[in-house]
Amino acid sequence: MSLKLDHVTYVVSRTLLDDVDLEFRAGELTALSGPSGSGKTTLLSIAGGLVEATSGTASYAGASMWQGTGDPRPEVSFVLQVYGLVPILSARENVSVALRARGVKPADADERAEAALARFHIADLGDRQVEELSGGQMQRVALARGLCVDAQVLLADEPTSELDEGNRGLVLAELRKEADRGAVVVVATHDPAVVDACDRHYVLDEGKLVDHIEPIDLHHFDHPERRIIEEAAPPHFDEEPAPEPVTEPAEPTGEPVLVETPADADAAFRRPSTDS
Ligand SMILES: Nc1ncnc2c1ncn2[C@@H]1O[C@H](COP(=O)(O)OP(=O)(O)OP(=O)(O)O)[C@@H](O)[C@H]1O
Ligand SMILES: [Mg+2]
Repeated sequence: MSLKLDHVTYVVSRTLLDDVDLEFRAGELTALSGPSGSGKTTLLSIAGGLVEATSGTASYAGASMWQGTGDPRPEVSFVLQVYGLVPILSARENVSVALRARGVKPADADERAEAALARFHIADLGDRQVEELSGGQMQRVALARGLCVDAQVLLADEPTSELDEGNRGLVLAELRKEADRGAVVVVATHDPAVVDACDRHYVLDEGKLVDHIEPIDLHHFDHPERRIIEEAAPPHFDEEPAPEPVTEPAEPTGEPVLVETPADADAAFRRPSTDS
């Protein structure tokens, strides 16, 4: 099962997406990156059925994502870049509303909303009005709302942009759980650590897909004037690897030796490599 974009072009006064052809697979985390304005949010909007492509199609399990109304199919859930929360409702109500809209009874919806907030360590904020929360807290409410419905297609637009490293790790772990239960999970992001935790990676530049490779170093996005396609070129595997430096084993001194382990905060969220 996968979400496919088949030669998607989107034109509004100018071309915002140009012949994008890709596949987001169930059971995987896929990163979508590219500079600000490259078309990530536009692509997610078409992929999720909010917007109709000018030409080409987005489909999941063989059926069109565009339903003619701008309403997403029931299999789809969004974590919006701008959150889309109702400021005067509480955090719990904002999450519960998404479940009630899918036919869950109010008492059950409230209970599931509570559990969803707990996944993001904000159960204690359930009664607070969203307008009183910090940006990072609001972002986690939006994540709780997006993930509580067990959607088959989860589209998360920069879901860690306001979070510290610890909460980013928490979010990556929760997104991984969604993929592990078989969902298509797409994460638009500027964060190299998020890309690194994903299984697959597409890069957009000015509405064009420029690469789809395993995680790469995205630090070059700090320099938008540089040509991304040059920077994102996959490594040349036919090049000779550099020889290992030869070092003589040190004479044992009897003194205890401190071995430093490199910090790798995101390792726990990566899928073990299947390369042999
Ligand atoms: N309705 C619209 N009409 C005209 N132009 C639009 C419309 N929506 C978006 N754009 C333009 O399309 C381009 C892509 O926007 P989009 O929001 O998809 O980029 P993005 O990659 O998500 O950027 P960011 O990283 O800043 O979120 C931008 O140049 C934006 O100004
Ligand atoms: Mg965007």
